[in-house]
Amino acid sequence: MISIIVAVAENGAIGKDNDLIWHLSDDLKRFKALTTGHTIVMGRKTYESLPKGALPNRTNVVLTANTEVHFPNCTLVHSIDEIIKTYGDRPEEHFVIGGGRLYEALLPFAEKIYLTKVHQSFDADVFFPEIDEAIWKEESREDFLASEKNEYAYSFINLLRK
Ligand SMILES: NC(=O)c1ccc[n+]([C@@H]2O[C@H](COP(=O)([O-])OP(=O)(O)OC[C@H]3O[C@@H](n4cnc5c(N)ncnc54)[C@H](OP(=O)(O)O)[C@@H]3O)[C@@H](O)[C@H]2O)c1
Repeated sequence: MISIIVAVAENGAIGKDNDLIWHLSDDLKRFKALTTGHTIVMGRKTYESLPKGALPNRTNVVLTANTEVHFPNCTLVHSIDEIIKTYGDRPEEHFVIGGGRLYEALLPFAEKIYLTKVHQSFDADVFFPEIDEAIWKEESREDFLASEKNEYAYSFINLLRK
């Protein structure tokens, strides 16, 4: 099973200059709680944006067309098809953690989206595809105000494929 986990601004923004745009402490905590112990699948650019490389206590899978490259503590994959065939049919949850290219390609194969909606618009160079309400239904939603540790108001929204 493939799930997507992503933080998206009101205007669909998810990243700029190969980095995240905002800092939301509670979102990072939620990300860690949900993905620890699981497989996380990411694009090469998202991998390179991680300050300390592979995330601990998770199986890190990185997609790149480059068959020569090696990243420490990562499993390399070389096509979207390989991801779908390897992880799509297994019953356990595998988390696609970005970035834009991976979300775009794998959204049609995902059963669940763990969405953090950030209630602000930002200048960006990478965006999340439109979430079609005809395809996705809200399973749960929690709304939070901005605070000292979370500079913008945000919502945790779990979406299930209808
Ligand atoms: N807001 C969030 O929740 C969130 C989460 C994660 C990332 N982000 C942001 O998203 C941005 C990065 O996204 P991005 O779209 O630029 O890059 P990306 O999706 O992380 O990685 C793109 C790379 O993945 C590989 N790739 C993609 N499709 C492929 C295919 N079909 N076959 C083989 N390889 C393929 C290629 O690597 P090679 O060039 O090596 O072949 C490509 O350059 C950053 O700003 C990051 O901070 C945001």
